[in-house]
Amino acid sequence: MGKDVIIACDFDSAEKTFEFLDKFSGKKPFVKIGMELYYAEGPSIVKEIKARGHKIFLDLKLHDIPNTVKKSMAVLSRLNVDMCNLHAAGTVKMMEAAIEGLTRPDGSRPLLIAVTQLTSTDEESMKRDLLIDEPIDKVVMHYAHNAKIAGLDGVVCSPLEAGKVHETCGNEFLTVTPGVRFADGELGDQKRVMTPEQAKKIGSDYIVVGRPITAAADPVAAYERCMAEFVG
Ligand code: C5P
Repeated sequence: MGKDVIIACDFDSAEKTFEFLDKFSGKKPFVKIGMELYYAEGPSIVKEIKARGHKIFLDLKLHDIPNTVKKSMAVLSRLNVDMCNLHAAGTVKMMEAAIEGLTRPDGSRPLLIAVTQLTSTDEESMKRDLLIDEPIDKVVMHYAHNAKIAGLDGVVCSPLEAGKVHETCGNEFLTVTPGVRFADGELGDQKRVMTPEQAKKIGSDYIVVGRPITAAADPVAAYERCMAEFVG
């Protein structure tokens, strides 16, 4: 499994997305389509970006009863995405159902990655709102372990957690890490960040990078800098 930079295409229309992707003439970066773009444009945006030759991480974070997730995953699998995700909080049974739904008749399937605890959830809100009393690190590692038992390929996590996830679940278990910033770049609303180079050292398998590329004066140069630092 090669390391790669995934660009978070957090746009609200196909028009803005294609205006951005057109700048990459000839290059085909791995792109992440999130809820905003998918809900704005529907499955056609996935098909169109795929037809242009990009790999796609469809970041829809499914969480529902196992049967619904299984059937929805079967639909997403037919869109031929390369990676998709769900919430590990949906239980091992839901994750196993997701794998079943995602697996195509020929046995192939997109990579399936679990969200453990969102980085917007801190220990205080976990205790207060979710009545989870364990330390957040323990919860994240437990959810990662559940994802592994269910047969998933990895987790989305902070680059700061990537080393520990590999220790707990093995080096083959993928870590997909947002929260990446250039050393001389703006943080925006991200708090616990790493540079692409640090993320590489700590063992992230894929970094998800949005604004440092999408909002750069020269997005192609910013992408290439990311690739050079992270992939080498
Ligand atoms: O612009 P920026 O680089 O902060 O974008 C990061 C991307 O990763 C966004 O699409 C954001 O929703 C996503 N993400 C994140 N933190 C998580 C999970 C996903 O920043 N814990």
